[in-house]
Amino acid sequence: MVKVKIPATSANLGSGFDALGLSLTLYNYLEIEENDRLEITSTDSVRIPKNEQNLVYKTVKYLYDVCGRPLSGLKIKQTNNIPLARGLGSSSACIVGGLLAANHLMGCPLSDDELLGFAATLEGHPDNAAPALLGGLVTAVIEDGRVYHVKQTIKDDLMFAAFIPDFELKTSKARGVIPQEVSHRDAVFNLSRAALMSVSLYSGDYQNLRAACGDRLHQQYRLPLIRGAQQIFNMACDFGAYAAFISGAGPTVMAIVNTDLFDFEGKAAAWLKENSMAGWQLRMLSIDNRGAAVKLD
Ligand code: HSE
Repeated sequence: MVKVKIPATSANLGSGFDALGLSLTLYNYLEIEENDRLEITSTDSVRIPKNEQNLVYKTVKYLYDVCGRPLSGLKIKQTNNIPLARGLGSSSACIVGGLLAANHLMGCPLSDDELLGFAATLEGHPDNAAPALLGGLVTAVIEDGRVYHVKQTIKDDLMFAAFIPDFELKTSKARGVIPQEVSHRDAVFNLSRAALMSVSLYSGDYQNLRAACGDRLHQQYRLPLIRGAQQIFNMACDFGAYAAFISGAGPTVMAIVNTDLFDFEGKAAAWLKENSMAGWQLRMLSIDNRGAAVKLD
């Protein structure tokens, strides 16, 4: 049996649309073994497909097919702590977990780089898949099925305050509102900030983060889909966060906060209550610099 632990991820970081992502201390777990038929269980009440539509199963089957290996069935046990369709990488966790499990069940015929290529191709973009697999902050580009990437280990003096609403937002819907064309000026606006974000997080020059989060490619179009998000952006910055951004395609709003800011969590939680934002849950997370982990039993 293979056990896999896969972290949640937060993609884009404002300016780095489809290119930047980081890994967080919130985990899904999978236990997978070969079986004569398909049996899927979960250890929690999260509603997941229990048939061949299950994303973990589909991913394992895909990799077996790629490697030309027969698969009669699987036993899959899922623990789903990463909320679904909230911009925290729940589908990447299924894909990365399924690929790692399949590779180990087959005796590791594929390298991590090959797995990353499959993960990013199955997802369509590498910004969740790469940090879920590798951990840390990952800058990634996909070209011809190959992922060119750099993983940076981030210091543990930052907290990531995830404001998670009680409603879902499908990535397809959140991508559907983004214009197909952008001006040269807006492209430059984002690419300069994405570069600044990557190096500033790595070097600890956190005073740059507010400017580095600036974005003209996606957030302004997505904000109207996320009732309350703009107020949370403003509140988080008022309470001392370095920056706030829509996590992935949303609807979670992520604020970057120094660990020295002891009162941030209490003040933000009180603000949510006072402002009738009871549907929003606050989770204080840290960077996960390790990425997905596999254990063979
Ligand atoms: N970068 C993607 C988007 C989501 O913003 O639509 C994460 O893969």
